[in-house]
Amino acid sequence: MLDKLSEIEKNALDALQSVQDASSLDAWRVAQLGRSSPLMKVFAELGKLSKEEKPVVGAAANRVKVALEAALEERAKAVKSAALAKSLEEEALDVTLPGRTIHHGRLHPSTQQLRRVLAILAEMGFQVYTSREVETDEMNFQLLNFPPHHPARDMQDSFYVEAGQRGDNPILLRTHTSPGQIHAMRQFAAMNPKDPPPIRIALPGMCFRYEQITARSEIQFNQVEGLAVGKGITFSDLKGTLIDFAHRMFGQNARTRFRASYFPFTEPSAEMDVECFVCGGKGCQVCKNSGWLEILGCGMVHPVVLQNGGYDPKIYSGYAWGMGPERQLMLRYRIEDIRYFWGNDVRFLEQF
Ligand code: DAH
Repeated sequence: MLDKLSEIEKNALDALQSVQDASSLDAWRVAQLGRSSPLMKVFAELGKLSKEEKPVVGAAANRVKVALEAALEERAKAVKSAALAKSLEEEALDVTLPGRTIHHGRLHPSTQQLRRVLAILAEMGFQVYTSREVETDEMNFQLLNFPPHHPARDMQDSFYVEAGQRGDNPILLRTHTSPGQIHAMRQFAAMNPKDPPPIRIALPGMCFRYEQITARSEIQFNQVEGLAVGKGITFSDLKGTLIDFAHRMFGQNARTRFRASYFPFTEPSAEMDVECFVCGGKGCQVCKNSGWLEILGCGMVHPVVLQNGGYDPKIYSGYAWGMGPERQLMLRYRIEDIRYFWGNDVRFLEQF
């Protein structure tokens, strides 16, 4: 019996040598330590042995059992660490490989420029006042002193939403941010109609014109309107404010000039130029050899417009301007085609 036990032990340990994975390890456990294994049969037959043999064989069988269990445990550890080593090797990670590029989203160049403009104006004390994009003819033109047959009111130049359906006050997409002046003045005036408060606001937003899309004209673009109304505001306030803006926007050394112009809603009216920053004023293609770039229209708010806004032109005066963030970007970065702005080509957009 003792010989048989040593043979069982030897066979079992030999068999364990070739076990390489978890499933054959389990099969070995069933075969060597399971209920019908040779070792368990020895235990089952202990009862048949004589009184003298029984403790000797029993002790030997127990020792073999403990030895096999210990060997099993050790083998299990080895199998497990071999499996781990294999998986590390197979799933090896080269930490020196370059990573995949993550594409960051960013603000549209127009939004960036719009924010720059508004940040500068905020420093100068202008509050942002947003106004609607869909307007009535009355707000967009009539109250801004446009004469009835002004070319801008032509069906060819504006997007009418309900053409011909509202008599002489059809609905259209605003062609400029100027109607916001009327909305703002009326809202401020309503606070105290007898003595309306002063106003100093910037009106940003999208404008729409029914135009042939070309390198120079788009059907949509942003404007930033400025409006200041109060007692004793003069043309020098307008000039001082816009020159200061130009310095903050284009640099302290940027030279500016004003040229007389015409807008129905301002009197007198002007346009402001900055010295061409491409050629430094010497004359180039961008400034069409003039040395100057036009960046905005402006003027003293027309008495009729003040009146329409609820401000008595005998007591109040004001100035206003309108400028285009896209135009500023085109000048600054020499963008030759305005269609890039809404063309959604990331090769253009990601440069900003
Ligand atoms: N609304 C004008 C345009 O779209 C721009 C403009 C000019 C606005 C003079 C003003 C201004 O407020 O005073 O061309």
